[in-house]
Amino acid sequence: MRRYLIAGNWKMNTNLASATALAKGVAAAAPKKLAKVDVMVAPPAPYLLAVRDVVKGTGVDLGGQNASEQAPGAFTGEVALDMLLDTGCSSVILGHSERRTLYGETDAIVNKKVHAALAKGLQVVLCVGELLEERKAEKTNQVLDTQMSGSLAGVTSEQLAHVVVAYEPVWAIGTGLTASPEQAQAAHAHLRNWLTARYNASSAAATRILYGGSVKPDNARELLSQPDVDGALVGGAALKPELFVPIIEAAVAVAG
Ligand code: 13P
Repeated sequence: MRRYLIAGNWKMNTNLASATALAKGVAAAAPKKLAKVDVMVAPPAPYLLAVRDVVKGTGVDLGGQNASEQAPGAFTGEVALDMLLDTGCSSVILGHSERRTLYGETDAIVNKKVHAALAKGLQVVLCVGELLEERKAEKTNQVLDTQMSGSLAGVTSEQLAHVVVAYEPVWAIGTGLTASPEQAQAAHAHLRNWLTARYNASSAAATRILYGGSVKPDNARELLSQPDVDGALVGGAALKPELFVPIIEAAVAVAG
């Protein structure tokens, strides 16, 4: 049985005061929910320590938004996986569409990061998703297959146990457009079939596939009710406890 994961990707938002306040809001509401669902927040790297101090002992997990595949060294501006571990992270988001489209991260780069993160014992939240023109051209499945095979090249079924896939249609990110529950389910089922073909049925059945793209309190429950939707990767609505906590509550309600 897959546990729901509700993850907040704060992106390049918040400041020290608001990050701490947001973490407090999530941490205050979370403990009652954590028996049923996993909750993670991914603050900007400079605020990881402050957020760690707030969520420590509450069961809310901490994640990085990205990391270098390199060992610590002369890589100006980069964040090492060891640094994420050191600041309390148990997960790292990799291959987010903003990294792919704005910073040129290819599947080959993402694949190096995936291997490096898994070698460090971090859970990987691997993001995949199609552009609007790719969906219009009915290339969604093809794009997902390419991203999955490139990003997960050489990843074993044992390692896959530490990978969460996040389906984030790029056209739904930050736009207020959400994939319909049917569109999300179709993509998630396709991804699970891909995992079955590439790995095996039990690994595919055990892998969580999150939906991301304008998830809000009012659409969370219907999305999370889809059989292959195992949680949400939330951007904008993760920046306010009054929006993020109801999404956690929706997962608790669907988990039953
Ligand atoms: P929004 O929820 O703001 O659409 O962002 C989704 C996302 O990119 C999460 O990683």
